[in-house]
Amino acid sequence: MTKPAELSEALSVAAGEAFATLGLDAGLGAMRRSDRPDLADFQCNGAMAAAKKLGKNPREIADAIVAALRASDIVASADVAGPGFINVKLSAAALSSRAQQVADDARAGAASVASPRRVVIDFGGWNVAKEMHIGHLRSTVIGDSLQRLFRFLGDSVTSDVHLGDWGLQMGQLINEVKLEQPDLPYFDAGFTGPYPETSPVTMDDLGRLYPLASGKSKADEARRNEDRQATQELQSGRPGYRALWRHFCDVTRVGLERECASLGVTFNLWKGESDAEPFIPALVEDLKARGIAELDAGAWIVRVARESDKKEMPPIILVNRDGAIGYHGSDLGTIIDRKQSIDPQLTLYVVDQRQALHFEQVFRASDRAGLMPESTLEHLGFGTVNGADGKPYKTRDGGVLKLHEFIAQADATALSRMTEAELGADVSEAERADIAHKVAVAAIKFSDLSNVRTTNYIFDLDRFVSFEGKTGPYLLYAAVRIKSLARRAAGEGVTPGPISVELDAERALVLQFDAFNDALRGAYDKRMPHILCDHAYLLAQAFSSFYAAAPVLIESDPAKKASRLALALATLKQLEIVLGLIGIAIPERM
Ligand code: ARG
Repeated sequence: MTKPAELSEALSVAAGEAFATLGLDAGLGAMRRSDRPDLADFQCNGAMAAAKKLGKNPREIADAIVAALRASDIVASADVAGPGFINVKLSAAALSSRAQQVADDARAGAASVASPRRVVIDFGGWNVAKEMHIGHLRSTVIGDSLQRLFRFLGDSVTSDVHLGDWGLQMGQLINEVKLEQPDLPYFDAGFTGPYPETSPVTMDDLGRLYPLASGKSKADEARRNEDRQATQELQSGRPGYRALWRHFCDVTRVGLERECASLGVTFNLWKGESDAEPFIPALVEDLKARGIAELDAGAWIVRVARESDKKEMPPIILVNRDGAIGYHGSDLGTIIDRKQSIDPQLTLYVVDQRQALHFEQVFRASDRAGLMPESTLEHLGFGTVNGADGKPYKTRDGGVLKLHEFIAQADATALSRMTEAELGADVSEAERADIAHKVAVAAIKFSDLSNVRTTNYIFDLDRFVSFEGKTGPYLLYAAVRIKSLARRAAGEGVTPGPISVELDAERALVLQFDAFNDALRGAYDKRMPHILCDHAYLLAQAFSSFYAAAPVLIESDPAKKASRLALALATLKQLEIVLGLIGIAIPERM
């Protein structure tokens, strides 16, 4: 086995080998960061578990392991404490050489995955004609962080925004526009075109018409039938409806692209539910022929329940009784589309936890139909964003907060915080606005991603825009401070030199560098960006203790000065990378 680059790993391997020599499981050698950094860097509790198994005294086993560890050149000291805890301190030479590796590596010590995969990440998922609101913000922010992480680790990622552009809402809107503007050519079945190039509705119109139409549709059965009819006609290609629907999509997309640019989020594909449509007829025929699709009260369904199910698992509806394709059908069609164009080995759906059942049904149906195996399809759910009252976040008047208003609010709060903290006082107004926006985006993304993905959280703009505490702005500020140190050093002609780890604060900083891979792997395997946030925060904190204990530019010993500068630059590199994976852009100065 080649020697692992990470000290934590190398140490676990060394301890594991010592356990193996005693005829024990090498896994018992797992080392973790010590809770008592004053006593040790790492600790291992394996001797206690081993002793239980063998009916031996744990201290005896620990003594044997410690003796073996002392022979390792990365270990400065190894001791047994209490009933059989193994405490290890690493050698300064090992820490120095690890720090040097991180400093010299463009990826700041980050490994890549052994076998890269083709991965599709389905996120965003906004709906045409509906204002983008804070619920879709979570999907966007989490999905973007995951696409950055998976790409960074070497996978080939295709992100798809998967717009909601094909359901009953489209029929509802068509009918609502018809009521307001009945003379438009889109509704004249005899019209032969061409249809007008400019949209008869703006995004504001759509934002107003959407709730109006869906309210009427819910309240009135006759209207609902008309809406179903319009949806079915749209889907089967009625030219006027298609032309009007195109306008809905285009108008919505302009707004979405603006929000995405402002958040720094990109997608490889701007596809939607409608793009699944061409794949459905053949799928339905095939599933009918194989007896997988069944006719049930006029609809084509696929049963997905299993005997082992503990909860009710309703069938999916492939084609409803009006011949229209709903949410299930479009997700299945999309799976075929992706299979044919990308052939992904893994597909991640970053969608509200409340859709868990939907995805379970779709994945089972995909498996049953032989489209893509269930094991390659994963729903990554997330909790809701709540207001101080613990209920889903709303505006003051109880409405759904529009995303661009929300961003504008965050920008304004960031700007006033900067003024309070006397930041950005000596730059132009345009640059200050740009910095404030970066602070706002950092606040929004970090506050979202630093929570465990599956939990709900309370959004508190004032707290999240603070430059103190575990916040995005604190981390931005930490990175900007190192950037400014780097500039001053360059100005004074100080260059980084060989790293020699001496002080406790330096040791702690390097141990944090060393933990980067674990954080990356944890976030990647669990699809949990909060692990990246934790790493970024601990790194910034370790740097701040280091910088307090080991000032750089006022140090008189040139070798120490150069070593400390190298540590600072390595911190900056790792911090920039991890903030980049969270989707946070760092200004040059503040
Ligand atoms: N548009 C959907 C919604 O707002 C989310 C789409 C998620 N992606 C998917 N493939 N179903 O609920």
